[in-house]
Amino acid sequence: MESLSRRRVLTLGAALGLTSVALGTPKAWSWSSAGSIAKADTVTDPFSVWDPVPDQVAAQLLADGKISAVNTAWQSWVNNSDPLPSGMPSYLVSYLQQVNQLPSWADPSVLAASEKLYTRLSSYLFVSESLGSGILSTVIPREARAVYWSAGGADMKARAAKTFTFGYDLHSGTAWHPNGHFIVSANKTRLVHSMVRNLLPTSTHYEATADEWKPISNGDILRTFHSVATVAHNNMQKWGVKLSAAEQAADLHAWQVALHLLGVQDQFIPQSWADAQAQAQQMLWPNLASTTEGINLAQTLLGYIEKPTLGVDTGFVSEMVRYLIGDTYSDWLKLPHDLISRTLIQTGWPLYVAFREGTSNIIPDGYSLFDAFIRGVAMLYLNNGTSATQTPITLPTANRPG
Ligand code: HEM
Repeated sequence: MESLSRRRVLTLGAALGLTSVALGTPKAWSWSSAGSIAKADTVTDPFSVWDPVPDQVAAQLLADGKISAVNTAWQSWVNNSDPLPSGMPSYLVSYLQQVNQLPSWADPSVLAASEKLYTRLSSYLFVSESLGSGILSTVIPREARAVYWSAGGADMKARAAKTFTFGYDLHSGTAWHPNGHFIVSANKTRLVHSMVRNLLPTSTHYEATADEWKPISNGDILRTFHSVATVAHNNMQKWGVKLSAAEQAADLHAWQVALHLLGVQDQFIPQSWADAQAQAQQMLWPNLASTTEGINLAQTLLGYIEKPTLGVDTGFVSEMVRYLIGDTYSDWLKLPHDLISRTLIQTGWPLYVAFREGTSNIIPDGYSLFDAFIRGVAMLYLNNGTSATQTPITLPTANRPG
């Protein structure tokens, strides 16, 4: 028994019909799909749902040794209106022909409203999503382990850059236009996840620590969605950024379509922010924990982001993370303290946002520092969204070596 990993015990337990309580796993899933865009009142555990169609396509690409040919062919597939590139196997082309489009329930006028909103909010969103959600993701155990033990975990700079590409494409003023990129980036990401579902279960390192037999279920994707989008929604309210009901709905709608494009089923996609908050209460906040992999990823990421990129010192960046995600998780990650930066951020940041938003005339202490910081964070995204050196999203061929 001792040689059985937790993941194997869980798989075996499920096969034997043991309940999650008997196995010591968290409470049974109870969020009703009445709060989803499908609206049917059923309770299905999203952590037991994956993405079988692209997973099969990915398995075939691996078996056929076609990954590098596809990565080469993909280079010219960037804009939403680009034709599917030549040089890809026919089964991949026919899969993409079906999914490379908006779902029937997408509302183009609401998506257009999200483009306008994101143009206005992008600098705040980039702060919330890069330093906040980026570091928060390292205390989501399944995500930390999957990212660490996949190929990208060995090169976190490139991996972060690819994630910034996704964020930039979603928050761009032309995200859904024919010359925007988001539908393509989301489809590439969905296939990367499928590749990871095929590869990671073959990693002995991942297998030794993981608590699920296959990574990146619909539930895992939703958990990450909350750590990014629901957290950003909360931050905008906390920082006093005024959003109309229509703007809040547009933000959610863009994410609903994004989740669909990432392979999440309608029965799990929240239909309102209240439903999203209820889902996050069940799937995100009770499931955060410190892992060796997460601590390593957070420290590597911060090493890339701070001084060389943002031009601000380590103390300021650590305290900004503490401000964004709270001390509990920051302590798990062993982030340093800097009392001067802490006071400056806690008093200055809300005043800075209020001044920028025109709801206060007080120019806070550290105004130019916050300005430089926000510009530096925006550049992380812009460099990946617009420059010729954009880090393209590519399919991995292997896991992280030992
Ligand atoms: C890859 C975004 C959820 C694990 C990627 C990539 C993007 C992305 C843009 C491609 C960049 C790259 O190759 O590194 C997202 C978004 C998510 C999400 C927007 C949800 C809203 C998850 C979850 C997990 C996960 C829940 C694990 C539990 C991974 C892994 C890779 C990856 C392991 C591949 C890294 C590599 O080896 O290159 N994701 N992801 N993702 N994602 Fe996700």
